[in-house]
Amino acid sequence: MKLNPNCPKLSYMVQSFPLLYTRVNIILTLIGYAHSFSTFQWPNPQLRYADNQLYEGSMGILVQDCPSRENTTIPAQWLRIAYHDMSTHDIDDGSGGLDASIQYELDRPQNIGQGMIDSLNDFKAFRIATPFFGMADTIALGAVFAVAGCGGPLIPFSAGRVDATEPGPETVPEPQQDLASHTEAFRRQGFSPTEMIGLVACGHTLGGVRQVDFPLIVTDTEDVVQSFDTTTNFDNAVVSEYLQNTTQNILVVGPNVTTRSDFRIFASDGNVTMQSFLSSDTFAETCKDLIGRMINTVPNGVTLTQPISEPFDYVVSEPLFSYRNGTLSMATTLRVMTENPSRTVTMLWADRQGSSCPPSGCTSPSISTQEVVFSLIGNLQGLTGTRYSFNATINASTSISKFWFEINENDGSDPIVVDNGGPGFVIEQDSVFIDNSRSENVLLSSSFDEYRKVVVAVRGDTSSSVSITTSDPNSDASAPPYLLTVITTNLQLDDSNPSEGGFTFFTVNISETVNFVSISGNIGGVSYVQENFDMTVVNFAFVTIS
Ligand code: HEM
Ligand SMILES: *[C@@H]1O[C@H](CO)[C@@H](O)[C@H](O)[C@H]1NC(C)=O
Ligand SMILES: *[C@@H]1O[C@H](CO)[C@@H](O)[C@H](O)[C@H]1NC(C)=O
Ligand SMILES: *[C@@H]1O[C@H](CO)[C@@H](O)[C@H](O)[C@H]1NC(C)=O
Ligand SMILES: *[C@@H]1O[C@H](CO)[C@@H](O)[C@H](O)[C@H]1NC(C)=O
Ligand SMILES: *[C@@H]1O[C@H](CO)[C@@H](O)[C@H](O)[C@H]1NC(C)=O
Ligand SMILES: *[C@@H]1O[C@H](CO)[C@@H](O)[C@H](O)[C@H]1NC(C)=O
Ligand SMILES: *[C@@H]1O[C@H](CO)[C@@H](O)[C@H](O)[C@H]1NC(C)=O
Ligand SMILES: *[C@@H]1O[C@H](CO)[C@@H](O)[C@H](O)[C@H]1NC(C)=O
Repeated sequence: MKLNPNCPKLSYMVQSFPLLYTRVNIILTLIGYAHSFSTFQWPNPQLRYADNQLYEGSMGILVQDCPSRENTTIPAQWLRIAYHDMSTHDIDDGSGGLDASIQYELDRPQNIGQGMIDSLNDFKAFRIATPFFGMADTIALGAVFAVAGCGGPLIPFSAGRVDATEPGPETVPEPQQDLASHTEAFRRQGFSPTEMIGLVACGHTLGGVRQVDFPLIVTDTEDVVQSFDTTTNFDNAVVSEYLQNTTQNILVVGPNVTTRSDFRIFASDGNVTMQSFLSSDTFAETCKDLIGRMINTVPNGVTLTQPISEPFDYVVSEPLFSYRNGTLSMATTLRVMTENPSRTVTMLWADRQGSSCPPSGCTSPSISTQEVVFSLIGNLQGLTGTRYSFNATINASTSISKFWFEINENDGSDPIVVDNGGPGFVIEQDSVFIDNSRSENVLLSSSFDEYRKVVVAVRGDTSSSVSITTSDPNSDASAPPYLLTVITTNLQLDDSNPSEGGFTFFTVNISETVNFVSISGNIGGVSYVQENFDMTVVNFAFVTIS
């Protein structure tokens, strides 16, 4: 059986017929497949990166077990900023939404609070931003991690938001406004009166109101933060305590009736919706849906990726090339979900002439395997997986046109071919590429400055030219907005790597914090590009110079 990983029929059935899915799943389980994960057409840096941030990213570190900060919690701060950023949406004209415009709106009273700046500083520190995954996607991902970190539901994540370059309208609801204003504000944001009750309850299960920021609401100056409920976790205590009349939620029982906005909202349908949230399953399901919609509320014209609710199978990392003495090497990795120590994975590849590789492909068995370290979200889903590394030795004159994989579980089942849904993983061009083994991570011992010496191999002579566009998420700004720094630089001829075998080498120094680059080369008037090259997977040699 040749199992096409993109098999559209199976995923169609899975979506359309839950009953059938259960049966398919049982059958797959019986023959040894616990899961059927989906995959995507390679290359797709955006989906690969979204998967990587969600399932192998480091965001979970700051929200695991719902940790405290500023007398509230980090997840409470991350969830509030996501709502405030999204609050600019106007369903009538499609403007606004989750677009990181909050970075330009921090001086407004409605966005008061240290949590806003702290959250943006967190997101900056993770250095997640790329040209295709900006601060808005990071804020949305933060909300997903925040809810998960406090024991709430796992919210599917889509990428593709576009960062605003200016502030949006001043439309965050405030406690002193009346019910009609709030109902209208939520309608404008795309939520019905019932959904308003849900979204506020889902938000106000975390954190509370700070005395310094809302002294007219929290009038007791001894009270640093008045929590919305007695539990730190993402749970329905905010609901049950309200209905039991034991709530300490200051937006329900505060001394000033004007600012009891949660009371007005929660009671707006005679408590019917709040009663339904006494079921913790209903509460979790509703919050999953509403917070999911909240983070996916984006301006018209912005298209989000498919929602990711489980990791993609067969994720291929950036191929790393190197040329030396007539030989090209190409190193890459393949992530395969679930672990099976007896599994063997082989990379196969074809040359650019289709003559010197056997028709079945030249083989490169995996040279090492690594257990995948999953993020908080991956761990909560109980995932396991293995990453297989390969390094193919390739005749530089016949080169490589594409590669693919064969996976054998060695349990009697037929091997699986992973070929990107048919065409294989195609190497568009082999004329201009970052040379992984000639490039270096450099430490200047005199100043402890670190940088990357990038060497680009060009199949051409010294009349060729090369430029690099670097995306650096390590903003120099000391306050928001934290913007990705994108710079284009021309490379110089590399004296330490003389021309060899028809290749000429060019070099440039770039910051070690650059996470994505695009290379553009011109050889005799023809241009070649290596786009969105992932610098986070290179393994340049470390050198120290004085
Ligand atoms: C009428 C609508 C709303 C009003 C008037 C309102 C008002 C407030 C106020 C005054 C605070 C205290 C902020 C501070 O002291 O830092 C707060 C906190 C919070 N709000 Fe809302 N909110 C509303 C809706 C929402 C929604 C829809 C969400 C998210 C789904 C949300 C999430 C949060 C969170 C997580 C906190 C705690 C922040 C922390 O502890 O740092 N709120 N809200
Ligand atoms: C909590 O608030 C008190 C009083 O303002 C302050 O002394 C303490 O440092 C705060 N704790 C945290 C973790 O911010
Ligand atoms: C809830 O508490 C308030 C204030 O303590 C009180 O006025 C009200 O009668 C109570 N309602 C119920 C249903 O117990
Ligand atoms: C109650 O709050 C409103 C809105 O902040 C304010 O205008 C009013 O003065 C407050 N009333 C009292 C008695 O503090
Ligand atoms: C809703 O519940 C709250 C809290 O128990 C109560 O004070 C209020 O009177 C109720 N409202 C209605 C309309 O039942
Ligand atoms: C280069 O390759 C040739 C033959 O392919 C070999 O004889 C020679 O030793 C190699 N030189 C180096 C420096 O590896
Ligand atoms: C590389 O391929 C070329 C063309 O097929 C051939 O002439 C050459 O001998 C090969 N080099 C090596 C080292 O196999
Ligand atoms: C692959 O092998 C070549 C030749 O042995 C080596 O120069 C290169 O650094 C290796 N690539 C990786 C990523 O390990
Ligand atoms: C890279 O930095 C080193 C050390 O400062 C310097 O000697 C070298 O000329 C730089 N290379 C380029 C291409 O700027």
